[in-house]
Amino acid sequence: MGNGIAQVASRAGYDVVMRDVSEQFLQRGLQAIDKSLQRDVDKERLSENDKQQITNRIKTTTDLLALSEAIFVIEAITEDENIKTNLFRELDQIVPAESILASNTSSISITKLAGATNRPDKVIGMHFMNPVPVMKLVEVIRGLATSNGTYERVKALSEKLGKTPLDCQDSPGFVSNRVLMPMINEAIFTLYEGIATRESIDGIMKLGMNHPMGPLTLADFIGLDVCLAILNVLYEGLGDPKYRPCPLLKKYVDAGWLGKKSGRGFYEY
Ligand code: CAA
Repeated sequence: MGNGIAQVASRAGYDVVMRDVSEQFLQRGLQAIDKSLQRDVDKERLSENDKQQITNRIKTTTDLLALSEAIFVIEAITEDENIKTNLFRELDQIVPAESILASNTSSISITKLAGATNRPDKVIGMHFMNPVPVMKLVEVIRGLATSNGTYERVKALSEKLGKTPLDCQDSPGFVSNRVLMPMINEAIFTLYEGIATRESIDGIMKLGMNHPMGPLTLADFIGLDVCLAILNVLYEGLGDPKYRPCPLLKKYVDAGWLGKKSGRGFYEY
């Protein structure tokens, strides 16, 4: 999602530094940006020259110190609480004191990430949806100490990126995944229990509820490891057995069947 966020920020006119842990991941990100922008060039909604300028405004680096002048940081790393907390601790030492540290986390506590910094009032959740260039929502999550000033700055930035910000309080899964993941999990249970085929489950939800994708296709698109991580946050954070991840989901993740990104999930890619 990081490359999608970099793309929409650059498209809105911001200078962007896209940082990843390896050159290979950065190249993959740049390719995704190129492919996404090319769709708009092909549809004559973007000129070749504008595409070039958007690309040129994105600098890439593997060095975290390259963010030392960033006025706004949006973190979109792996959904692992320890790795994220450590990164927030490091970022807090590197970026200017008045800068905002936002997280694109889909379920990890913003209050906890804020607690790793000396600026908890300037830490906030800025949860984009996939595919970032297409989806209009930014779910804005206020941590316990997030100030109103920080919220207003994030709201203004989201609007400048062409998105609609909607806010909620910090709670496991926030609103989006507290509602979405139980549906996906239940779809996996219906497959696990042999109630219907993957095609029937997806078709019923797509045609019957007018969803753009069936829940199993959507899970593959999000990443099965991400779905499992979010369900575990809901299960442990809310302590309610209704969030228990389906054993089939665990099995697929154990097998490395992570969905579209790994070539296999509920479907083959
Ligand atoms: N970059 C830029 N544009 C893209 C794109 C991308 N990566 N992917 C699709 N598009 C554009 C297409 O160009 C097309 O644009 P126009 O209609 O303006 O010409 C439009 O999106 C529709 O694309 P397609 O016709 O190729 O395919 P589609 O109609 O099946 O739509 C989809 C694709 C937008 C992904 C649609 O299937 C959809 O909305 N799926 C559900 C997505 C969803 O639920 N996302 C949320 C996931 S949850 C999450 O992200 C957060 C979390 O915490 C887990």
